[in-house]
Amino acid sequence: MSNGRNSGGRCVILSNLHRSVCVPIVLAPLFVIAFASRPAAACGHPVAAYEVSEGGVIERPLCGLAGDAERGRAVVAGRRGNCLACHAAPIPEEPFHGTIGPPLHGVGAVFSAGELRLRLVDSTRVNRATVMPPFHRVEGLRGVRRDRAGQPILSAREIEDVIAYLLTLTEDAPADETR
Ligand code: HEC
Repeated sequence: MSNGRNSGGRCVILSNLHRSVCVPIVLAPLFVIAFASRPAAACGHPVAAYEVSEGGVIERPLCGLAGDAERGRAVVAGRRGNCLACHAAPIPEEPFHGTIGPPLHGVGAVFSAGELRLRLVDSTRVNRATVMPPFHRVEGLRGVRRDRAGQPILSAREIEDVIAYLLTLTEDAPADETR
């Protein structure tokens, strides 16, 4: 009687059951190569390529990303964007809200995503004299910390997250307060 051990361990002369195990092992490296070589999505890094259309909007989401409103709220409340230094927003857990810029309440009802994108990426394209920082621009900046040179203040993903959050702000500020 013959069995697997007597066949000398070579795949080809093993029983059908054994041969079916050999085939996937041979093909496995091909799958690894196919997945590892998939190209990254075309997107400038660290500054995303974008187009400003005539109406003063950046129509297309940076890098084609879909924003997340909850993450965007955290960016608006956080220190890097520092939005609350200048703007009031419905973020009651942060005690101090600035009044240098208009309250962000209601901006989601007033501006389209494309208009918000332009204002966040580079507000100087709307008002050259604005004090609002260009959050996704690296040229022409002064006083940038050396370790942050060439890095926009907010990444493409953060910009899209902030837009998603701002679009949820469709209500005006309560009449008695601005936060
Ligand atoms: C140094 C102050 C400052 C900071 C920081 C700042 N902004 Fe502004 N922002 C302004 C001012 C001032 C305006 C009014 C527009 C202008 O200057 O022409 C403005 C305008 C806006 C507008 C348009 C609203 C309107 O009614 O015109 C939006 C939206 C906005 N800012 C969002 C943000 C967000 C989000 C952040 C944080 C990521 C931020 N801003 C950080 C000062 C600031």
